[in-house]
Amino acid sequence: MKRIALLISGGGSNMVKLVESMTGDHPARAVIVGSNDPAAGGLAKATAMGVSTFAIDHRNYKGDRAAFEAALLQPLLAAEPDILCLAGFMRILTPAFVQKFEGRMLNIHPSLLPKYPGLHTHQRAIDAGDPEAGASVHLVTPELDAGPILGQARVPVLPGDTADTLAARVLIQEHRLYPEVLRRFALGDQTPILLTAA
Ligand code: GRF
Repeated sequence: MKRIALLISGGGSNMVKLVESMTGDHPARAVIVGSNDPAAGGLAKATAMGVSTFAIDHRNYKGDRAAFEAALLQPLLAAEPDILCLAGFMRILTPAFVQKFEGRMLNIHPSLLPKYPGLHTHQRAIDAGDPEAGASVHLVTPELDAGPILGQARVPVLPGDTADTLAARVLIQEHRLYPEVLRRFALGDQTPILLTAA
C-alpha cells in the first residue's frame, strides 16, 4: 500500500477528490495533508476525512525559504510518504526540496503544459484566443511546471468565457484527472493519460 502525502494552500478540492479516491482496492492511502497556511480550508476537510494534518505558516519564515522548507519537511518525512502530491499548493519549492522527492512528487497545474507555466493560466489562454484549455498533472522537477507530463484534461474555451468560468470548467476535469493519474502512478504506470471533457 503506497503512502501518500498531500500539500495544499487553500480549499483543497483536488486533495479531497484524491483522498476520496483512495479506498477499497486502490493501491494507495492518504497518510497526511499539510499546508503553508494554517487557515487553509482544506485542512478541516482532511480532518473530517480522518487524515492527519499539519500547517507550517510560511509567513513565519519571511525570506528564508530554506528554513520554511526544513520546517515543512519535518512532519512530512515523519509520515514516511512514498509519494507527495501537490494539490493547489502555491509555494515555489527549491531544487533541494524537490530533489528529496524527485521521481515521486506530482503536481497539478491548470494549463495544457508546456503552455502557460506560472500564474493566471486561464486568462492567458483566453487572451491568446486558444480554442482549448485544461490541466496537466506532471512529475515535479526543479524547473517550475516543467516536469514529464503524466496526464492532461482538455476543455473547450467558449465564447464569453472569463477566467472564472474557464477555471470552473477546468476544475471539474482536474477532479477526474488527478485521481486517475495517481492510481496508475501508485501502480508504477507512468503512461500519459489524455482526458477530454465528458
Ligand atoms: C486549481 O486551479 C488547481 O489547478 C491549482 O490550484 C487551484 C485550486 O485547487 N493547482 P484546489 O481547489 O485547492 O485543489
